[in-house]
Amino acid sequence: MRLSINKRFAIGGDFEFKIEDIKKKDKQETLLNGQKGTWSASGRSALAKILKHLKDIGIQEILLPSFLCESILQPVKKLGFRYSFYPVTKSLIAQPEPKPRTAVLVIHYFGWINPSTCNLRSEQIDGFYLIEDASQAALSNWSFANSANRFVVLSPRKFGPLPFGGWCNIVTMAEKPSHAIECLAWRSIAARLAKSTYLTEHGLPVDNKIEEFYLSAFMAVEAYLNNHPTDSGIPQIILDIMDGLDWAEIGKRRRANWQYLHELLSKFVEPLMTDLPTDVVPLGYVIRLAYRDKVRKALAARRIFCPVHWPLPTEITKSRFPNAVKLSETSLTLPIDQRYGPEDMAYMAKAVEDVL
Ligand SMILES: Cc1ncc(COP(=O)(O)O)c(C=O)c1O
Repeated sequence: MRLSINKRFAIGGDFEFKIEDIKKKDKQETLLNGQKGTWSASGRSALAKILKHLKDIGIQEILLPSFLCESILQPVKKLGFRYSFYPVTKSLIAQPEPKPRTAVLVIHYFGWINPSTCNLRSEQIDGFYLIEDASQAALSNWSFANSANRFVVLSPRKFGPLPFGGWCNIVTMAEKPSHAIECLAWRSIAARLAKSTYLTEHGLPVDNKIEEFYLSAFMAVEAYLNNHPTDSGIPQIILDIMDGLDWAEIGKRRRANWQYLHELLSKFVEPLMTDLPTDVVPLGYVIRLAYRDKVRKALAARRIFCPVHWPLPTEITKSRFPNAVKLSETSLTLPIDQRYGPEDMAYMAKAVEDVL
């Protein structure tokens, strides 16, 4: 039974953290599919590592998808790459036309391996460099035989209680974390531990002061990453938490929640993805809505907090990239993560039905 909406219940929002989240050491096996690479502070700094490597071998140009997270542009601009955008279809299929001696970035949207990846992997013989952005697909099967022309980026911080964490499949010396990152990591962990206690007291009323405290710790990390997109040193405590999370269980929960929500919702909303292959762990359950912002607001009033993927850079115009702009204006990502179970999914489905 759900509590009334001014109580300390929430679906979505940044991950709280409990000491019990740390299980036996998983050695990141599940997460890395046994592949070799280097950890860094964020997905964008992992991308920066790849871009630096490409720069060293004379590559200066990158093709980016028109439907993308703006943070991807940060390292591209900072490292002085020339960039342009390519179209994606309504169903998120990448349609780049790669040229020799350029890089092409493909996003595995919401956990699904981009359907164009298979062709792009085999076309690489033509001399372009493929960067697979698996930031939203960290727990899906993104692994593939290593080749000198293929790179992978992960951002596991989107899948668990981790303020920092990015990875790429280039083996280099890890950098020492900055003092600022160390401080932000501890501040964020403290805020997440406190948030988990706060949420267990779900009979008590919402306390805006306490919620602002979590939000400010979250925003401080995001501001740091926006301002330092190439800073790569990651604190040991983050690696220790990453090592101890039960990634296999996290994957199972997310899949089960997605499937249940799909059963409940697909009759009366338009889901962006309509089936769940066995090797996919979804980031969220994405629906398309004409009045997306209105629905998002109404759900937030019921303490269901949904991210929007993504507000696009101003360079992406409707006339050139109608599909990307439409996706950006109409998609809403419903949370399905490991903190929730069937009862929460049923509550959310009912809330969506009510506010439509
Ligand atoms: C597809 C994609 N790639 C890369 C990033 C950057 O990851 P991070 O925030 O860890 O730098 C994001 C961020 O949301 C993303 O959605």
